[in-house]
Amino acid sequence: MNRKGVLHGIGVGPGDPELLTLKAVRLLKAAPVVAFFVARGKKGNAFGIVEAHLEAQQERMPLVYPVTTEALEPPLSYEAIIADFYDGAAEMVSRHLDAGRDVAVICEGDPFFYGSYMYLHDRLAARYEAQVVPGVCSMLGGTAVLGVPLVYRNQSLAVLSGVLPEDELRRRLADADAAVIMKLGRNFEKVRRVLGELGLAHRAHYVERATMSNQRIVPLDEVDPMASPYFSLLVVPGVKWQS
Ligand SMILES: C[S@@+](CC[C@H](N)C(=O)[O-])C[C@H]1O[C@@H](n2cnc3c(N)ncnc32)[C@H](O)[C@@H]1O
Repeated sequence: MNRKGVLHGIGVGPGDPELLTLKAVRLLKAAPVVAFFVARGKKGNAFGIVEAHLEAQQERMPLVYPVTTEALEPPLSYEAIIADFYDGAAEMVSRHLDAGRDVAVICEGDPFFYGSYMYLHDRLAARYEAQVVPGVCSMLGGTAVLGVPLVYRNQSLAVLSGVLPEDELRRRLADADAAVIMKLGRNFEKVRRVLGELGLAHRAHYVERATMSNQRIVPLDEVDPMASPYFSLLVVPGVKWQS
């Protein structure tokens, strides 16, 4: 029987190409097919990080999102469209795996930390060998460039999505020793309001495109909520532990 290909979910880190792991580079160079999720008309952030390591003969397989953040008129639903898209992407990847070709699916940050790779993994890992290479996640890239220690001693960390409803965000932040808030973009103003209400604004640090060449660190009250990009996050570090 023909050998099936191996599915690799490869974390490529938050942006700085030097944050690729040795293992990621080795597997990328060896993969006959390199797949990556990308918005229509874009080159792909993850692809840009690894491009210099690829050879011409390696097949590039862009998996182009049919929708991103645009509002959809009923009966169109984001969930239904995106589920169909992941089904189709898994089918495209599986054709290579069935033919014995390994596929490296590259993913910004870490594949299992809010990564789109997860939706392929969920669909394919029961049928094919799947290996995941962890990557430096944006949260840790962010704290590194901000220069803020994140959690001291016995503190617990809450990783929150800015998409959460305002009450829920307030409740979870009020309970947290330390927090990282992801997926800001259009949610930024709501998040800033909640931090202000809880008296946490002075402890919060904002970073855009952490570790990328166009990274920006901006005081919270100077962030333009209309211009806060997708690649941004907020860090509320734990209270400093004096040892
Ligand atoms: C779909 S999640 C992907 C997370 C990624 N898998 C990781 O490990 O960091 C996208 C969110 O990650 C955060 N993000 C990703 N890269 C970032 C960066 N370089 N700087 C700041 N935030 C980033 C943003 O909050 C963004 O909304």
